[in-house]
Amino acid sequence: MTDTPEIPSFLDPAVQDDPFDAYALMREHCPVHRLPENGLHMVTRYDDARAVLSDPVSFSNAPSGAGARLSDSGKAARDHIAEHGWDRTHTLQRTDPPVHTHYRRLLSRVFTSKRVEQLSPRMEQLCHQLIDKFIDAGECEFVSDFALPLPGIIICEQLGLDATQYPTFKRWADAMLASAQRVLTVEEAIEEAVVELEAQRHLAAEFDRRRDDPIDDLISALVHAHQPPDGEGAEDEPLTIEELQDLMHQLITGGFETTTAALGTGLWLLLRHPDQLAKLRADRTLLNNFIDESLRFDSPVAGLWRTTTCPVTVAGTEIPADAAVMVRYASANRDEKKFDNPDVFDIERPNAKDHVAFGWGNHFCVGAWLARAELRIAFTALLDRLEDIELARPLDDIPHEFSFMLRPLKELPIRFRPS
Ligand code: HEM
Repeated sequence: MTDTPEIPSFLDPAVQDDPFDAYALMREHCPVHRLPENGLHMVTRYDDARAVLSDPVSFSNAPSGAGARLSDSGKAARDHIAEHGWDRTHTLQRTDPPVHTHYRRLLSRVFTSKRVEQLSPRMEQLCHQLIDKFIDAGECEFVSDFALPLPGIIICEQLGLDATQYPTFKRWADAMLASAQRVLTVEEAIEEAVVELEAQRHLAAEFDRRRDDPIDDLISALVHAHQPPDGEGAEDEPLTIEELQDLMHQLITGGFETTTAALGTGLWLLLRHPDQLAKLRADRTLLNNFIDESLRFDSPVAGLWRTTTCPVTVAGTEIPADAAVMVRYASANRDEKKFDNPDVFDIERPNAKDHVAFGWGNHFCVGAWLARAELRIAFTALLDRLEDIELARPLDDIPHEFSFMLRPLKELPIRFRPS
């Protein structure tokens, strides 16, 4: 038996930025690593991650115990929102079956593959409009010129919000995600809560409008989701305003920066692996596998939380009841027992699609259809219109924003030759 080596701290920005050696150490020596800084149990192997995600009875999504204890800043923000807006209730991602099943059924009535298919022409048009804005310059900052606005505007439009308000929408999304990205002081948390309240008020007015006058958008569909499709079967109770606010919160936070990170990372991976870019240009049928391989290789959502409901043993490690567990998708996706040569970026990898970047089990990403379509359409347009793409200048030594959960690139300045 080998001694367990020291695992570097995940609070170190350099480790957070390039955590793959640390993940490999953990997978080999301590597959469930208890972070000394916050007591979180990090599950790092592929099979263990899938087992945890498949067992909602022992590993709960509902905030309780360790998972529900709010920091002072979290409590201050929550109190401020409850006093001035609509208190947070728990729906969908923060619930377990059978409550989760109820919300998931309502959402799957409105978030259909058909809706995504209908969206494709608009996504294509938007990709070309965004490229039109920078193509003549022969360069752009890919994150702010493309990777942020594409999913931002699409989700604005899907939610029935005015796409010209996209910068406001981005501010709301940033505020909603702030506490998951970094440690906030009480003052900072209240500042973010004030912005979130602005979003709540705007959304509440939209719910009212769509209740009386539905249009073909997601907000209308959610407000009327209690009515069975085609009028068949019994009606559910309409969603309350608190439930609607929480669902919107999840769609906004779940659907925006995740896809931005996937777009930025996908392009950056191609630039760092010109042989793979050449292969993709030569054979576009590899596009879907390229998308899966980049989600596997550098997963946009690095990990998410569960709370144990009872004492459990994972990979020989005992975890007590009421403990916070983080399933580290990004490490599971580099597990050498599942993926041969996991640290090689290979767009022809036969089992790339087995990644868990969209989760696994009952909480599997609701927006996976939409995200995949956005990535497919975006990379098609980019490869069609930009040749000889390269980095315009070296990236920062630490190219990602600090985040315990997501993988946002700070910037991706590129230059290219218009096709
Ligand atoms: C590349 C982009 C995306 C990635 C990597 C991603 C990743 C994930 C992951 C890992 C989960 C599992 C959560 C869990 O296990 O608790 C999840 C769930 C979810 N995602 Fe995504 N997501 C993406 C895009 C989207 C989009 C575009 C939307 C919506 C517009 C969305 C909405 C959601 C929602 C609402 C859930 C919760 C589902 C549930 O709890 O039943 N996501 N996503």
